[in-house]
Amino acid sequence: MGQLDHLLKKNRAWADGIKAQDPQFFHRLSNQQAPEYLWIGCADSRVPANQIVDLLPGELFVHRNVANVVVHTDFNCLSVLQFAIEVLKVKHILVVGHYGCGGVRAALLNEGFGLISNWLRHVQDVGHVCQNNIVQEAWRRGQPLTVHGFVYDVADGILRDMGLSVASEEDRERVRQNSIDELVQRPVRSGRQKVVQ
Ligand code: CO
Repeated sequence: MGQLDHLLKKNRAWADGIKAQDPQFFHRLSNQQAPEYLWIGCADSRVPANQIVDLLPGELFVHRNVANVVVHTDFNCLSVLQFAIEVLKVKHILVVGHYGCGGVRAALLNEGFGLISNWLRHVQDVGHVCQNNIVQEAWRRGQPLTVHGFVYDVADGILRDMGLSVASEEDRERVRQNSIDELVQRPVRSGRQKVVQ
């Protein structure tokens, strides 16, 4: 008896459930994957990508790290972006932050932004993805690709579109300006954006 037998048992039940509905499901997937979406999200156990958007294996390409960071020096993240865009040709990139992210809080404190809002951080994240060479090249080729900023609330299970969708280089500046306008107008929501001591 292994210590993780309960997980193997759950796995069998899960696979059996899918096969009961669609006997060829895993066989089809074994030949190819053709996801339309790349999810870039936090590694937090409360933010499980496929489950949140109720997608099956093969439908969502996923990259998760602490605080959903996208930087041009992270070769792990860059290889995911490259494979997703150039090989899989995903149509949408979802940059998904979540409220109460400890990783974001720690990073912001380190950078001296003690009170910066989650909102601004997400605008930056979407911006980093849009500035990435692989994304820019795809747009130059005319490949359909939209980058979206979403935020997930672990307290109610709801994923919200932040209205930051960018589908071209021209979009980028417009969205950036809209975000700044919104940031200026938006009052700090005390319930969600807790002040970090
Ligand atoms: Co997090």
